[in-house]
Amino acid sequence: MSPEAPRNCDLCPRLVTYRKANEKAHPDWFNGAVPSFGEDTARILIVGLAPGMTGANRTGRPFTGDWAGDLLFGTLAKFGFCDGHYDKRSDDGLKLRHAMITNAVRCVPPQNKPIGAEINACRPFLSSRITSLKGLKAIVCLGKISHDSALRALGVRLKDYPFGHGVEYEIGAIRLISSYHCSRYNTNTGRLTEEMFDRIFERVRDIAAA
Ligand code: URA
Repeated sequence: MSPEAPRNCDLCPRLVTYRKANEKAHPDWFNGAVPSFGEDTARILIVGLAPGMTGANRTGRPFTGDWAGDLLFGTLAKFGFCDGHYDKRSDDGLKLRHAMITNAVRCVPPQNKPIGAEINACRPFLSSRITSLKGLKAIVCLGKISHDSALRALGVRLKDYPFGHGVEYEIGAIRLISSYHCSRYNTNTGRLTEEMFDRIFERVRDIAAA
């Protein structure tokens, strides 16, 4: 199984319909299954929710061009996981160092909310991505949907590994660390502060370096 969905993936009827509408409204946007971004030698895999409508769905690179990306790429730079300058475009030349970013669902969902069937349909790509990374030490899940899908991809029971901000679990050879999602909503409401996000990546840096 490929770790990447084809750009015109047709597994989820609702997401295909949404893509077609977006192609009509914004023919110059990416409008497809957004591939993972980063290195095959990644020690950390960051798992987001799904492409943002005007972010990854427009630019074709996870978290690129929206609010969540400003905080995520800024934090990755702070903790040494980026080379180059993030400029909100997929051709900004940014490279990840020892890291990869992917999404639990690869196509933009209406209202930013994938349904269960879509999360399940997309999981084989996540599972395959996880097993493809031979040097993987940590998975960083952004939000509960990502956390639950990563647990299912790893083949463990959800009730044994509950979601919370800052939880850390050892699952086989992998550390799974979860955070509240770095969305505009969560940061505007104070559910997630920059300091809280920094603490997550401080820990991830230590795991990646060990
Ligand atoms: N952009 C992404 O690619 N994923 C998210 O979870 C949010 C924004």
